[in-house]
Amino acid sequence: MTVATPAEVDRLRRACAIAAQVREDLKGRIVPGVETADLDRHAEELIGRLGGRSWFKGYRGYPATICVSVNEEVVHGIPGRRRLTEGDVVSLDIGVSYEGLHSDTAVSVGVGRIDAAAERLLAVTRDALDAGLRAVRAGRRVGDVSHAVQAFVESNGFSVVREFVGHGIGRREHEDPQIPNYGEAGKGPELVEGQALAIEPMVNEGAAAVRVLEDGWTAVTVDGRRSAHFEHTVLVTRTGSLILTLPGVMA
Ligand code: MF3
Ligand code: CO
Ligand code: CO
Repeated sequence: MTVATPAEVDRLRRACAIAAQVREDLKGRIVPGVETADLDRHAEELIGRLGGRSWFKGYRGYPATICVSVNEEVVHGIPGRRRLTEGDVVSLDIGVSYEGLHSDTAVSVGVGRIDAAAERLLAVTRDALDAGLRAVRAGRRVGDVSHAVQAFVESNGFSVVREFVGHGIGRREHEDPQIPNYGEAGKGPELVEGQALAIEPMVNEGAAAVRVLEDGWTAVTVDGRRSAHFEHTVLVTRTGSLILTLPGVMA
């Protein structure tokens, strides 16, 4: 959406601040032995205490508050009885609605000590999000963002997932434009000042191909190698972007 009024910007900021605080809180709980359903329960409680609601829960029938995707799980992992183990790579995805406005943010973290390849996967995915964010500015095109992400990821020897994309966000959870993590610079819709976007590279250690498990949600890599995911909600500005889901934005 393109934000219409200052009051609307405030509500969007609040939705984003809550999601960012929950993300940072959950990161601190990623330790060996924790059950992924515990993370989900904690997230639900904290989002509620901060005055928000998870928009994931019930979205197209999604059964939980957050997504927790481990190792070869790419996105949309459903929290449950699984316990995290030292060396796992865990992606957390959190979406909050607050007075009709929506936010979306994701982070990947290691459990305890992780191997050097996992450290690289996390660093490259985090930096791919930065590369995408640096390409955002009113008047640029979606393809500029897509290309920046893809070029960075592939030059580092990893691959980008094709089946899931970033998106507009705001009054609805997913809005136009779609923002693929692959594409051609200069192509696609123009970015507009005041537009809210979720930018979210999903990066695989091995091949790009993914499939969805029988639960209808969990996306995994076909080759079984690991995947990472970082996501911010931003506002497009004349000179760049304003990242609304940074840590510490909660008043
Ligand atoms: N947060 C995801 C995204 O980035 C969507 C999750 S939908 C859910 O677009 F139903 F799985 F929660
Ligand atoms: Co998300
Ligand atoms: Co998203």
